[in-house]
Amino acid sequence: MRIDVVTIFPEYFGPLDLSLIGKAQASGLLEVGVHDLRTWTHDVHRTVDDSPYGGGPGMVMRPEPWGEALDALAPEGEARLVVPTPAGERFSQAMAHELAGEPRLIFACGRYEGIDQRVLDHAATRMPVTEVSLGDYVLFGGEVAVLVMCEAIVRLLPGVLGNAESLAEESHAHGVLEAPVYTKPPQWRGHLVPDILRSGDHGRIARWRRDQALLRTAQRRPDLLAALDPDILDKRDVAL
Ligand code: ADE
Repeated sequence: MRIDVVTIFPEYFGPLDLSLIGKAQASGLLEVGVHDLRTWTHDVHRTVDDSPYGGGPGMVMRPEPWGEALDALAPEGEARLVVPTPAGERFSQAMAHELAGEPRLIFACGRYEGIDQRVLDHAATRMPVTEVSLGDYVLFGGEVAVLVMCEAIVRLLPGVLGNAESLAEESHAHGVLEAPVYTKPPQWRGHLVPDILRSGDHGRIARWRRDQALLRTAQRRPDLLAALDPDILDKRDVAL
């Protein structure tokens, strides 16, 4: 996969060279390009914003540098454009899977009140464009949202995670939250590891984990539980 990021703060993306995303780049599973939007400005002040038509607070990102950036990075429209914005479609594990299937992504990080809508409308005439929100809160800009999305996407690329089973078990993999986890020592500051996890009975352990996952989901995310297909729920639970 190739990911290009366009931003006025390239320094935000240093973490993409760390940890497993850095390793994915080193091993050739992932290529990342981070680009300063101001590269595509032509005035002495390297201006990227202006006041909004129709009035209102703040500034809007001008279309010209964005248009040139997208022309340079995907002249044939050979990428999917992802634009983080609180006005977007909600990001989810399902969307992470969908984006992980794309060979090329371009993330366009807006600042201020956002990017002139014509940039997205024009891009949509030649490539798929998705506006994405991380959640119902407002960040200063799209940079941190892009880091979050990159991490969620890159860990799904084949070969990035050593243990494929951890993908199958994790929170949201089956629409429920993951059960609590424990390691040694068996007793710590008066708190015990649940006996069943030390029993060696894999059938009962699987049943316990499933129960804990459902319980947690009911307590913390009743919305997820309500969205589960009751047939699938029953079948999987009977199988365990
Ligand atoms: N930019 C600003 N706020 C955002 C949010 N909640 N999600 C994605 N991008 C954003």
